[in-house]
Amino acid sequence: METDRLLLRPFAAGDLPAYRLLMGQDEVGEQLPRGRGFTAEETDRLAQFWSDHWTQHGYGPFAVVERSSGTLLGHCGLKAVEETGEVELLYALGREHWGEGFATEAARACVAWADMVLDLPWLVGFVKPDNVRSIAVLTRAGFAPADQVHLWGLDLIRYRRPREDQAMPEPSSP
Ligand SMILES: CC(C)(COP(=O)(O)OP(=O)(O)OC[C@H]1O[C@@H](n2cnc3c(N)ncnc32)[C@H](O)[C@@H]1OP(=O)(O)O)[C@@H](O)C(=O)NCCC(=O)NCCS
Repeated sequence: METDRLLLRPFAAGDLPAYRLLMGQDEVGEQLPRGRGFTAEETDRLAQFWSDHWTQHGYGPFAVVERSSGTLLGHCGLKAVEETGEVELLYALGREHWGEGFATEAARACVAWADMVLDLPWLVGFVKPDNVRSIAVLTRAGFAPADQVHLWGLDLIRYRRPREDQAMPEPSSP
């Protein structure tokens, strides 16, 4: 899938060296459930997990590549959340690629892809309350805060975005 500046495609074995450098950064990992940069082995397992996720579900996170340079910037895409039965938008870019609008461009493309390909009433995003950069991405991609949840040992804010042609359901009455 292509956007103005990005190519979103499945991860390939050749991405691993660059992906290890990106995911190894503490500034990237500290906002993820792990809370710190990933070791090389953890990044390799993550890439394998993304690949298995695509095989199992028919969707998953894409490798985000800058078209003009071919540089791997990070990942963005969709993940099944077993704990809630929902599908989560997630993303992470190497620190040197923040502040250029790449995450928002990728997030919007993934949301549009989900609207087209997946029959889901809504997508969610889970974010630590102090992750202002991620909250800004979610907001620009059309998500709104829904509630607070405790997941993966963390207190998180759940954001939701209804599919383009759907209204959000009213909270269920008792
Ligand atoms: C979340 C994360 C991807 C957001 O990165 P980001 O760079 O803040 O987000 P974007 O790529 O959308 O860039 C937005 C910024 O680029 C600026 N920008 C520059 N050129 C731009 C352009 N051509 N188009 C759009 N925005 C542009 C925007 O003004 C905005 O600047 P601001 O942050 O000063 O307001 C990044 O912080 C990250 O990887 N964090 C660690 C992992 C993480 O938290 N993941 C989410 C877990 S919930």
